[in-house]
Amino acid sequence: MKVLIIGGGGREHALAWKCATASRVTEVLVAPGNAGTAAEAKVRNVAIAAEDVPALVRLAQVERVDLTIIGPEGPLVAGIVDAFEAAGLACFGPHAAAARLEGSKAFAKAFLLRHQIPTARAATFTRENFDADWLRAQRAPLVVKASGLAAGKGVVIAATHAEALESARAMFAGQFGAAGAEVLIEEFLDGEEASFIVMTDGRHVLPLASSQDHKRLEDGDRGPNTGGMGAYSPAAVVGPTLHERIMREVIEPTVRGLAAEGIRYRGFLYAGLMIGSDGAPRVLEFNCRLGDPETQPILTRLESDLTALCEAALAGRLDTQRASWDPRVALGVVLAAAGYPEAVRRGDVIEGLERAATLPGKIFHAGTRLQSGKILTHGGRVLCAVGLGAQVAAAQRAAYALTETVHFRGMQYRHDIGYRAVARERAAAR
Ligand code: AMP
Ligand code: GLY
Repeated sequence: MKVLIIGGGGREHALAWKCATASRVTEVLVAPGNAGTAAEAKVRNVAIAAEDVPALVRLAQVERVDLTIIGPEGPLVAGIVDAFEAAGLACFGPHAAAARLEGSKAFAKAFLLRHQIPTARAATFTRENFDADWLRAQRAPLVVKASGLAAGKGVVIAATHAEALESARAMFAGQFGAAGAEVLIEEFLDGEEASFIVMTDGRHVLPLASSQDHKRLEDGDRGPNTGGMGAYSPAAVVGPTLHERIMREVIEPTVRGLAAEGIRYRGFLYAGLMIGSDGAPRVLEFNCRLGDPETQPILTRLESDLTALCEAALAGRLDTQRASWDPRVALGVVLAAAGYPEAVRRGDVIEGLERAATLPGKIFHAGTRLQSGKILTHGGRVLCAVGLGAQVAAAQRAAYALTETVHFRGMQYRHDIGYRAVARERAAAR
């Protein structure tokens, strides 16, 4: 079996590594991949951009690829799955119509409200119908969101009306290009965030292990929002009762609601949730893909053959599958480049990777590139060091032992990934 992974970040390194561990898989191609996927057994990089859909279709045809898995949202929203299917190729991910759940926050919000799925109250505006008086009548803080894809940067938590107005106007003025043509002004929700990711074939749902991401750049959840500075799985906040509630109140009505609207969602579906102090899950956002960095700890724990799960989903038989998980906790620390998330510097030499490879756990590459025998930084999030342990504290120690073995100029990382879960563990032990 030949597998093709589209993308070149840490999520895609984890996908390629995981697929390559299946004995029936002979080769995994990654387009474009990174220095980490280049070094993985049975894995080969192909220098085609994740957005170049026609070239990717040709690659899958020429290489006789049996299964393609899409990593990032860009090609999904652009319709890569539709293009692969039209060429008779098996491709796991939602069609463009379904990927709108991520591609348009305005669409997602209207969908959530239509189907009475719990979410923050919000209003959607264009530049033409924007109502500043309405905004001033809302209670601050407010959350201002560009509707379209903005690489995780299109959300502003505004403490005051003035800040919210300024953010909305900047978005209408083109701060995020076409992604800001529609802007959502949303009620601020308090609580603890959790990522809930499932696989679905459009009828059946297979939940993946829960996880929690750390979005802010600095320790103690301070500093700007990022794509994610670290994650761990399972997320202690999602116990069995909440898990059941999320399935019943969020995931099932979403898959059913889409089907009722004639959209069969097939792929990974990621609900970003805020768990309120009342214990209720509310949807912050949908992603039409796996999370990054959540995927790195989640797939580290997955014992089942991911390619078999994808194939079953493509056949509409996800109900025949179960996923089995390593009971240990996996925790990943993101090592980011100088300047991340604003102005990323590239080309710094990464040292210590050979030594890290002798330690337990695994370092997944994200923004890295090979040049004359050296591995260089080549993106905002550079590496993700994943440790495993019987408890969060032990997984954390293993991840930081890996992290501290690696060095590049300007390297930044958080020192407290998993802190909420560690505090819970300590409280439980007392
Ligand atoms: P999103 O891309 O919509 O998930 O927003 C990115 C981040 O902004 C989320 O992970 C939350 O940390 C935060 N956020 C988004 N919407 C809200 C909200 N309504 N209330 C509080 N925080 C939010
Ligand atoms: N880590 C958050 C995301 O992948 O959207």
